[in-house]
Formats: sequence, structure tokens, C-alpha cells
Amino acid sequence: MNVPFLDLKAQHAPLRADILAAWGDILDNAGFVGGKYVASLESGLATASGTAHACAVSNGTEALALALRALGVGSGDEVILPGNTFIATAEAVSLCGATPVFVDCLAGTWNLDPAAIGPAVTARTKGVIGVHLYGQPFDVDACQTVCDRHGLWLMEDNAQGILATYKGKPTGGLARVAATSFYPGKNLGACGEGGAVMTSDTALDAAVRRLREHGQAAKYYHDVVGTNARLASIQAAALHVKLPHLPSWTEARRRNARQYLERLSDVPGVRVPEVAAWADPVWHLFVVHVANRDAVLASLQAAGVGAALHYPVPCHLQKAYAHLGHARGRLPHAEYNASHCLSLPMFPELTEAQIDYVCQQLRLAVLGAA
Ligand SMILES: Cc1ncc(COP(=O)(O)O)c(C=O)c1O
Repeated sequence: MNVPFLDLKAQHAPLRADILAAWGDILDNAGFVGGKYVASLESGLATASGTAHACAVSNGTEALALALRALGVGSGDEVILPGNTFIATAEAVSLCGATPVFVDCLAGTWNLDPAAIGPAVTARTKGVIGVHLYGQPFDVDACQTVCDRHGLWLMEDNAQGILATYKGKPTGGLARVAATSFYPGKNLGACGEGGAVMTSDTALDAAVRRLREHGQAAKYYHDVVGTNARLASIQAAALHVKLPHLPSWTEARRRNARQYLERLSDVPGVRVPEVAAWADPVWHLFVVHVANRDAVLASLQAAGVGAALHYPVPCHLQKAYAHLGHARGRLPHAEYNASHCLSLPMFPELTEAQIDYVCQQLRLAVLGAA
């Protein structure tokens, strides 16, 4: 049996006619930039996140960077973030001319350790970005408490967490501002690139909108140096068609995660993800931890299981950040995560038979690699 890591064709087949109709509408009306699909997507995202505003932008990295710039982050500033995240969280900080300060995660949920924030704060620190990694909410209240103590803002990187809940409330609306990504493989993916910034702070939303549009609040009057970070209307239209399906896709991911947990929780040598009592994750990724990870990965791939790694090198040890001078051993949990993590196939259309096969092959691979 072959089990792909992700099957976007299966997601798009039933939506094909609706997406093509929306794209036909755009073509017929030449509404390629802005327009009703962007407006509809923004209002749907704000509702889903429990925020007053959502501003659609060109991709998730830009969403993070624009949110940071709107908060006034610039050269000489420091922003604290977990070392185990996709590089884009750190790149956004660097793109603003600021320095990313990497801290460790908790073993088990692999999310930002709130106790690691305080010791990393300096006179230059402006704020903290928490990442809802793998679709698991980080402990927002505990991080907010530390931020409040030091006069810092908190931002959510919700690229992997859309529709997850923390203490019953949706992620993306829990902190001062949140950024998300619509990269095709995300839980809500565009047919290309996309992202958004969510906030209930009206002035911050206006600042992001101005930056998105060449720094102009009125056409051809440029108050600040901005950029072109608009979301293409054809992407907004695809997302507008997909957004109503996100709750049922999320429930399917949760069902799949339950099936994985039932089958893998007692398997010796397989460490399954821990879920905090206050978290209802959306399982963007289902990540287990195993010894001899590379051998296990190779066996799974040889057996037709599309397993993957998120991420094999933590940000603080990437070449791109070598100038920060971080040695191995600085963030032990993030480093353990990078060398032991293994992402199993996870997408809404995954079948129970496929999950059975993946679990059976994982057992064999772990035994074989022991
Ligand atoms: C945690 C995280 N942050 C940021 C991003 C950046 O998003 P994008 O690829 O849309 O720029 C991604 C996804 O790629 C991500 O997984």
C-alpha cells in the first residue's frame, strides 16, 4: 500500500467546480486585485479567529513581517521565539532588521516553554512570538503573564493552528496579533501562496493594511515605506470556497489523530504527542518521536509510507543563523525534537485502513531499527 504524506488532489476534486466558477467570475469581471472574495475571506477569518479584523496578505512570512513592522519592530530590537519552528518565524524578525532570540520548547507538546522567556529578556526585547506548532496551541496565558511582567507584546504564529482552541477559544485571536499562512499544504491552503494578519487592535490592523499597500492610506499618498503584500483575488476566491469546509476537515484530522493515538500509545519505542488539558489541537502534523529516526524514516519510505521531518535542524543551528554563534546543546528540547521527530501522513481524507498500515509499518520499522 502507498500512503502519501498529504493528498491535495483528494481535497480539491469535490471543490473543483466551485473554485473554477469563482475564478471564472474574477476573469469575467477583471477583478484580479482586492474585491469581494478578499473581503469575504477577511470577514470569515476574523469570525473564525474571534478577532475584530483580518487582513489578507501575500503569504505567511509576509504576514508575520508586516505584523512585526506594524508593532514598530526594527533595527536593534530583539524578538523572542522558539528555536523549533519553521524558519519563516525567525526570518520575519530578521526581515525587519531585528534579531531573533531563540528559546527552548517543552518536551512532549514541543511548544514554547513559558519559563524560558524571562531569562531571554534584555533591554532590547520588544516582544515574543509563540507558535502553535503542529496545530497544538502553546500556553498563551502563561506566555502572556511573562510578557505583561516585562512590558512586551505577544504574537501568535498560527500558520499551523487555524481553528485550534485554547481553553475553549480559537487560536489566532488570543494575543495582541496573529499571523497565519495559506501555503497549499496548510489546513486551509490556497492554490498558491497566501497569508493573513488577525487582530482586534484597530490601529494595528490599519497599520498592517497600510504596509500591505505601499504604505498608503489614500491612493498615491505614501505615509510610510510599505510594500506590495496583497493577496491575489484568485487565491482569496479559492480560500473563500474552502473556508466553510475547514471545520469538517478539522474534525476529520481529529478523528485521524485519535486513531493514531489509539494504535500507537502503547507501542514501545514510539513517543506520541502530548496534549495539554486546555488544548484542542487541529493536527496540522501528527509528529511522533523515535530513536534511530533516520533509519525508521527510511524503512517507512521503503514501505510506501510518506513520512516526513518537521524540522530536521532547529533554527538556532541553521547556517543562516550561524552569525548568532549558537552552539549545539543550547536548546536541548528543541534539539532532541529535531533529531527524533517523525511526521506521519496526516490529511482529512486519510482512511482508517491507511492509518492501520502506517501504524503496522511504524511498529516494524522501530523494531528493525532497535
Ligand atoms: C510555523 C510557520 N510559520 C510561518 C510560515 C510561513 O508561511 P508561508 O510559507 O506562507 O510564507 C509557515 C509555513 O510555511 C509555518 O509553518
